[in-house]
Amino acid sequence: MANVLVVDDDQNLSRMLGEQSRRMGHVAATAATLRQGLEHARQGDFDLVLLDVQMPDGNGLEFLSGFKEVASAPEVIIITGKGDQDGASKAIKSGAWGYIEKPHVIKDLNLHMMRALQYRSEKRRAARVPVVLQRQDIIGASAALNHCLDELAQATMSDVAVLISGETGTGKELFARAIHANSSRAVKNFVVVDCAALPENLIESTLFGYEKGAFTGADKGMSGLVKQADGGTLFLDEVGEMPPQTQKAFLRVLQEHSYRPVGGSAEITSDFRLVAATNRDLEQMVGQGSFRTDLLFRLQGSVIHLPPLRERLDDLRPLADYFIGKLCERYGQEDKAFGADFVAGLAAYHWPGNVRELAQTLEHAFTAAFHSPTLYANHLPEHIRILLAQSSVRRTQKRQAAAGEQDGQTATMLPWRQFRDHCEKEYLRNLLAASHGNISAASRVADLSRTHLYQLLAKHGLQ
Ligand SMILES: Nc1ncnc2c1ncn2[C@@H]1O[C@H](COP(=O)(O)OP(=O)(O)OP(=O)(O)O)[C@@H](O)[C@H]1O
Ligand SMILES: [Mg+2]
Repeated sequence: MANVLVVDDDQNLSRMLGEQSRRMGHVAATAATLRQGLEHARQGDFDLVLLDVQMPDGNGLEFLSGFKEVASAPEVIIITGKGDQDGASKAIKSGAWGYIEKPHVIKDLNLHMMRALQYRSEKRRAARVPVVLQRQDIIGASAALNHCLDELAQATMSDVAVLISGETGTGKELFARAIHANSSRAVKNFVVVDCAALPENLIESTLFGYEKGAFTGADKGMSGLVKQADGGTLFLDEVGEMPPQTQKAFLRVLQEHSYRPVGGSAEITSDFRLVAATNRDLEQMVGQGSFRTDLLFRLQGSVIHLPPLRERLDDLRPLADYFIGKLCERYGQEDKAFGADFVAGLAAYHWPGNVRELAQTLEHAFTAAFHSPTLYANHLPEHIRILLAQSSVRRTQKRQAAAGEQDGQTATMLPWRQFRDHCEKEYLRNLLAASHGNISAASRVADLSRTHLYQLLAKHGLQ
């Protein structure tokens, strides 16, 4: 149960948010102005503040740090009528837990509140001096990777469950290991459960262990992976592949913190920290009914999304230096230089296999350039060179097509003088026809002197 303060001048919404909080088992108070809200926050022991932006006595974002500085240091979720990117970024930078736009508040509030409160309780439980993050060979310098490292550092400060998402080869397992290594659990086991590789009939006994005699061949009992992770970290890799039956059993473990081994009657406890990884869209799977929504809630206490390598090209060079440096060291070679075409080739390729593919590619290039002090584009694997060549052909064709299209559109255009003369002659013809060859009438209609009109008719050979 948590103490929630709703600061919003919209009475209906305020009442509704209060009720929604109470339905979740919390105690809620409300304030209709920022000053009243701050006053309540100073006097009360609030865990969470739901803060509106446009208030009668000012902008909620300006007061955010004031709320965070009161003795109970509550988490703050911004609820705004008009969402804008600047506001969202300002809110998050000032330490807000989340930012919800009013039209989505009913749908999104529960999840935001659950996460913020879980984070808060774990932060309190694990209140200890934050350690300097050991990067565990996580290489890169892009803003996107640094953002992920910040999230990693934050996750190591509590026992909150972490969900790491990202395409294949983006470093999900590397991050999971780094979370463990930087946590207070580092001295205990890091246990990997590969949900994609476990055969369905063995999954429960592998996870939860079994008692002697539980099935044919079980002549002695065995503790499962969940028990091995006691005091340490349990890493559920490819969690999207977990069969529905196991999702249900696992949810129970997370809720009850205890489970029964196969064929056993006694409940066993295991105090593990959960980290899960996926390259699938779990929200979409929930929508399709293939992943349990309650399990997803439990997994995503904190979420780290690792962007694909092609979206963080600033990491390419440091990664290439790192991998080639390691290879040179392994084979006792001097450092190798990179030709400009080699670097351009790396940047132009789209790296569907991300960092893993980059490491393999560099190993290939290193071998191809074994005796050369410099790596050139022609040391890259053939399939990459073919793709680079094809995309360069496509670019040229596109340029040509664009130029051709332009030609097609302009082909019917005349030079200005020619066009003007053409129109002038056309006009004079119509003028003569309309005035039945009467020059006085024609010069009146055209508002030209008779002399000027005669000159123009002569110019175009008209009578
Ligand atoms: N930022 C990085 N710095 C150094 N090495 C990295 C980095 N990211 C990934 N790697 C390396 O790339 C390889 C793939 O990483 P990892 O196994 O963590 O990826 P993954 O996201 O779990 O992939 P998959 O979804 O295929 O399991 C590993 O050898 C890892 O050490
Ligand atoms: Mg992996």
